[in-house]
Amino acid sequence: MAILDKHKVLEKNATLLLVFSFLVVTIGGIVEIAPLFYLENTIEEVDGVRPYSPLELTGRDIYVREGCYVCHSQMIRPMRDEVERYGHYSLAAESMYDRPFQWGSKRTGPDLARVGGRYSDEWHVDHLRDPQAVVPESVMPKYGFLEDNLIEPDHIGDLLSTHALLGVPYTDEMIETAAADFRAQADPDSDYDDMLERYPGAQVRNFDGQPGISEADALIAYLQMLGTLVDFSTFEPDANR
Ligand code: HEC
Repeated sequence: MAILDKHKVLEKNATLLLVFSFLVVTIGGIVEIAPLFYLENTIEEVDGVRPYSPLELTGRDIYVREGCYVCHSQMIRPMRDEVERYGHYSLAAESMYDRPFQWGSKRTGPDLARVGGRYSDEWHVDHLRDPQAVVPESVMPKYGFLEDNLIEPDHIGDLLSTHALLGVPYTDEMIETAAADFRAQADPDSDYDDMLERYPGAQVRNFDGQPGISEADALIAYLQMLGTLVDFSTFEPDANR
């Protein structure tokens, strides 16, 4: 009981309690934060994760511009109900080239971290045009206008260099060929082998099924690759950390 008696002193003196609480929080904080300064990298590297292709990166910017993140998260938490509904929980490495990250904080619609490959391109075109035609109770707004907004890769090289400045490993070659790679990914008749070498696993299609490259092409290219870079049939978490 002696220790409890000593504690009584603390509990009865507000100033002392404040000082000691502060001490405890400080020690806790140092224990949590100090090791981070000695780690080279807090993100485990994972095979398959690569920077976005120019077309995907453009689609990502449209996703951000249209505020899709207001209703959609991109972060599957390691809990059973989430993993059963959406697939393997999200890895830090999967969003390491996301600036800004799109984890989101609200799920009016489903999580999109693994939506890639879940639906056909036609489904996405129909759904973006009129979500209620596909899911009658949907509250998602219509984004049909994206198909009509044709885009040119005028500034895509600059966009890649800006990301390179922030640490995304885009090479000089990738920046130089950005406009050509942008066009190649949306045109299955193009010579896209070099683009695929730079962005392994990039999907090459006319995503919106219409002539010209539209914002819908870029957005669907982005949606269709989300969560598909890591092969989870062979993925093993690094147990040594
Ligand atoms: C007002 C909230 C809201 C906004 C903003 C919104 N969505 Fe949705 N979204 C929903 C809801 C609700 C659903 C579920 C019903 C449905 O499929 O339409 C949904 C479903 C989806 C699905 C299907 C997901 C699945 O696993 O079935 C995709 C893909 C999607 N949205 C993409 C987008 C994109 C891209 C944008 C931005 C251009 C966007 N959403 C903006 C609410 C929203």
